[in-house]
Amino acid sequence: MVEVSASLLSVENIESTKLFLDLETAKIDYFHIDVMDGKFVEKNTLNQMYANASSIALVSSIGMDVHLMVKDVDKYVEEYLPFNPKIITFHIEAVKDESDILKTINKIKSSGSRVGIAINPDTDIEKIKQYLDKIHVAFVMTVYPGKGGQKLIPETLDKVSKLKKYIIENDLDTEIEVDGGINDLTYKDAIDAGADIIAVGSYLVFSDNFSETVKKIKTND
Ligand code: DX5
Ligand code: ZN
Repeated sequence: MVEVSASLLSVENIESTKLFLDLETAKIDYFHIDVMDGKFVEKNTLNQMYANASSIALVSSIGMDVHLMVKDVDKYVEEYLPFNPKIITFHIEAVKDESDILKTINKIKSSGSRVGIAINPDTDIEKIKQYLDKIHVAFVMTVYPGKGGQKLIPETLDKVSKLKKYIIENDLDTEIEVDGGINDLTYKDAIDAGADIIAVGSYLVFSDNFSETVKKIKTND
């Protein structure tokens, strides 16, 4: 059964903790924290996401799936490790040097969090193959990072299938997360392509019944 990671990006100024508790009741597996620095992507969500993570840490036992869309990866790994996130993912496009990538992987792993490496729609899967045996999550962006409510780019699911095939052929236990444009028309394709973790934003947070939406995705119904 796939896991569901709820992105809050599309919900502006979350006043109360009701949303977090309703999503917890709906049995999401993670809160997906979209950290954007205004440099790696145009939008800056640094304050909003830090506030969300702080409230979630206070009221919910559901783990965080931190998605760093930032240039200074080290800085924000440091900032989010104290929340003991279940997963921290950084973008391969933000860390040029192989030794820095390996250092970041080890830093996150030694903190007890699972580590993911994300690739943008135009980044080839070849770029992360050499790290797959060292990371927990291969994170495939199914939209260009920077905002919620976009349309899934179908070609990105071919990357998911190819990654899945490579993971199986090489007997790796790396999971695949997809992120962006997941809705009632695309979640089945994403799961059939081989996604293990589904990050979903607008389709979930704007749905009438969170539990039903989460259940539909989890049961691939
Ligand atoms: C985009 C973010 C995604 C986004 C998903 O840069 O990384 O997590 O919030 O939102 P939807 O599901 O609405 O595309
Ligand atoms: Zn995200």
